[in-house]
Amino acid sequence: MNLSCTLVLSVLMCIGYASARKIPSYVTLCKRDDPKLEQCFINAVEQIRPYFRAGVPDLFIPPMDPLVIPQAGLNSGDNFKASFKNIQIYYADEFKIEHLKVDLNKVYIDLIVSFPRLRIKSQYNIDGRILILTLKGQGPADGNFTNVGAKLTVDGQRFFKKGKEYIGITNKKLDLSLGKPVFYFDNFFRDNPELNEQTNKIINENIVDILDELRPVVDQTVSEFVFGIVTRLFNRYSMDELFPLN
Ligand SMILES: *[C@@H]1O[C@H](CO)[C@@H](O)[C@H](O)[C@H]1NC(C)=O
Repeated sequence: MNLSCTLVLSVLMCIGYASARKIPSYVTLCKRDDPKLEQCFINAVEQIRPYFRAGVPDLFIPPMDPLVIPQAGLNSGDNFKASFKNIQIYYADEFKIEHLKVDLNKVYIDLIVSFPRLRIKSQYNIDGRILILTLKGQGPADGNFTNVGAKLTVDGQRFFKKGKEYIGITNKKLDLSLGKPVFYFDNFFRDNPELNEQTNKIINENIVDILDELRPVVDQTVSEFVFGIVTRLFNRYSMDELFPLN
């Protein structure tokens, strides 16, 4: 079998799999005109929560403990390049819904979630200057976050496709508050453990400013991830499937 044939086959298999998706039977759907729509969604999330850990492919939700992101880059200007591989995020399934407002007519979603704890492990490769620090190294990185907040707003519109009504996203926004995490990077100075400890200490003392510096790229990376899921969900399922009339 030649390469192009393999490619065609795997694309067809992917399409076949995608169209076979359906909303899992353990999800209680929320009626569109439920006067307590928000509470219904919150209850539905609690119903699905036990499945978050392993992921829910039919809802495009990846395994969430750990949530694995193969790689991400955090470059800032010309002077700072950081890449992270095999990023493993633990405890993401423990999120709490702090606030939810949904309007399906105007298509407006306002959601605030908090993560009591997150642990992020990865393989880092950092080279450059940030604030007062010149950093160069690669190796394992570990970070603990507490009380991370995420505020999501989505505007959309309803439209018809092949006789079915769908939701399209017209505007989206994500704001993160990362608090004051604690990081440890192995191997900044392979031959000098003392200098490595010292550098980690300085990083942690300045972590709020460093993250502020990196905020645009962090926000964009997380945003692409989150809205990727939302977009796929709205593309795949019609209004009638997601929010039945009766
Ligand atoms: C993160 O928390 C775990 C569990 O409490 C701990 O073992 C690890 O050393 C922590 N990592 C950092 C960078 O503080």
